[in-house]
Amino acid sequence: MLRHIIKPDDFTVQELDHIFDIASDIEKNPAKYAHACQGKKLATCFYEPSTRTRLSTEAAMLNLGGSVLGFSDADSSSAAKGETVADTAQVISCFADIMAIRHPKEGAAMVASLNATIPVINCGDGGHQHPTQTLTDLLTIRALKGRLNNFVIGLCGDLKYGRTVHSLIAALSRYEGIRFVFISPEELRVPDYITDMLDAKRIPYQMEERIEGSISTLDILYMTRIQRERFFNEEDYVRLKDFYILDAEKMKQARDDMYVLHPLPRVNEIAVEVDRDPRAAYFRQVQYGVYVRMALILTLLDIQV
Ligand code: CP
Repeated sequence: MLRHIIKPDDFTVQELDHIFDIASDIEKNPAKYAHACQGKKLATCFYEPSTRTRLSTEAAMLNLGGSVLGFSDADSSSAAKGETVADTAQVISCFADIMAIRHPKEGAAMVASLNATIPVINCGDGGHQHPTQTLTDLLTIRALKGRLNNFVIGLCGDLKYGRTVHSLIAALSRYEGIRFVFISPEELRVPDYITDMLDAKRIPYQMEERIEGSISTLDILYMTRIQRERFFNEEDYVRLKDFYILDAEKMKQARDDMYVLHPLPRVNEIAVEVDRDPRAAYFRQVQYGVYVRMALILTLLDIQV
């Protein structure tokens, strides 16, 4: 059966656990997987800038012995001539065995999946979802905490447009005993459809404006960037861009076993001095992203090792 990942809940919790088990095995035994995708091709179709997601998806396929092709800029593809995502997905299906797409429009990856004859990986569609980042985040939390249930997670920054935040909340809402603390300026609060979902599932959450108000209660602090590209005017961006700066002073209030995650890229929201704190886990998180994307590619291609 042809499978895609457009949002994290396209996979059951049990299926995700299995992907994380494969990723953990890859971390311990990389050589075992070095030829698993020999002869297979991954196409990366990126209509929006990316460093981590594109390169770690490509690194994942290369680590599995496969090959990669693709474009990293819509202007260098036939999108510049007006080709639709639907047509591009059919064309890419003739060239590759699996396709990864990032697009500024919400729903673009879904359109690709409805037209492709190969598995499609959503690598971010506008302000909507970013499921492979969420798999990365979940694997990182599991590795750091040894579990994916019963903890308090603070999500800080642009909670309105942040697709990594939307995907992560949806994914964590399927685990037991999660409490959310949403830390954002009023204008960048988490959308109503998400709080409606949490209310319906009776999952507790609270809204805060300042990190200082709740940092001492958290097991995980998930920082995000204020995203210039999602704002409709520069004035609002300039007013909000430095609203949060996590620094060594604020980290003094956090518990010894509280970890800081960030999907990256970072701008100003985490001071560089925090990188030296052993609780700063955002660069380790990037490495987990490669393992989990390797496990995801194997799963979507139905390859057992
Ligand atoms: N985390 C993330 O999506 O980073 P990139 O934009 O560099 O892919």
